[in-house]
Amino acid sequence: MQTIYWNLQADNETEILKAAGCLLRQGEVVAFPTETVYGLGADGLNGTAVAKIFAAKGRPVDNPLILHIARVEDILPLTSGLTANARALMQSFWPGPLTLIVAKSDLIPDEVSAGLDTVGVRMPSHPIAARLIKETGRPIAAPSANISGKPSPTDASAVWDDMQGKIAGVIDGGSCGIGVESTVVDTTSAVPMILRPGGITREMLEEVLGAVEIDPALEGKGDFKPKAPGMKYRHYAPQAAMYLFEGEAISNMLPIVTATAAQGIKTGVLCSEKIAVHIPETENILVSSWGQDIESLAEKLYSLLRGFDKQNVQMIFAEGVSEDGLGLAVMNRLRKAAGYQIVTVVNGSLCSKSG
Ligand code: TXA
Ligand code: MG
Repeated sequence: MQTIYWNLQADNETEILKAAGCLLRQGEVVAFPTETVYGLGADGLNGTAVAKIFAAKGRPVDNPLILHIARVEDILPLTSGLTANARALMQSFWPGPLTLIVAKSDLIPDEVSAGLDTVGVRMPSHPIAARLIKETGRPIAAPSANISGKPSPTDASAVWDDMQGKIAGVIDGGSCGIGVESTVVDTTSAVPMILRPGGITREMLEEVLGAVEIDPALEGKGDFKPKAPGMKYRHYAPQAAMYLFEGEAISNMLPIVTATAAQGIKTGVLCSEKIAVHIPETENILVSSWGQDIESLAEKLYSLLRGFDKQNVQMIFAEGVSEDGLGLAVMNRLRKAAGYQIVTVVNGSLCSKSG
């Protein structure tokens, strides 16, 4: 399939969004930017169109999709009923990076909900996403626009790498600002539960809801089955083996990086500026620094991981961060990318465990 690449500019936006909306209404798949990551969109009420998303991504069919809407009231036909908590969250955080799991209505195709009796709905704040949904006139089903298992794309060239030849079009609307996916919250239980940490932080949710739980499976301890089916897969993963250094272990990264590179292994280091200044770049050591703050780590995380792949890095060592605020989402992605291979200090000595 010939994939159209639309380079969006102020003077061609209307024309491009009309063309893309038209393809979506015809049942085709189009990738578009959101404030979190790029989405792979199809008409969310058309099961045949939605099936094309699964084919393009190579996504397991038991992993449901979320529906994207452009006006708050557009959730009403998609659900059989909203809890008071769902309404409070919609009011506080929509449009924005928050997906609400709600009881689904009969309108939802099985392909979207993957056999569950709930559906995820989100109203993105990105102006291009909002305009595209309005132009299409339907809820748009959209997972992240990566091949299943790879890091999500945060710019159109990463989408192109994964989706060229597989979908009808890619809208290039620049880089995504937040960089990690939306927070997924189950609003159907008495106490709402975070199924995937993301752009809206646990602290922000607690301010509105009082209490919020976190799916225990997110700890990666093995025995629990995640309530969001997508969270059980190795995900956000680069090709290289990856180790995540947490807490005190971070100060031991440098000798391990040097020793690994000395064996002829192409080694990538993902770290803050503070650590980066101590690591010498050599032929076998590639240092990717995200800078200083958690927002810039979130924004750059996936493109830095993809960058290591492009440079054929074989082993990645990453610096862990505090789990406050956006740190919870970032650490969740880092742990999954590392396949839960975590380096910590136990009783004063270095310890590597895998989930
Ligand atoms: O930021 C985002 O949410 C991006 C952009 C494109 O909007 N989309 C995204 O979609 O990340 P996806 O499919 O990659 O991740 C959706 C997550 C998956 O882990 C999926 O299993 C979970 O939400 N999910 C979807 N519907 C669900 C449901 N009814 N119950 C529980 N989990 C659900
Ligand atoms: Mg995804």
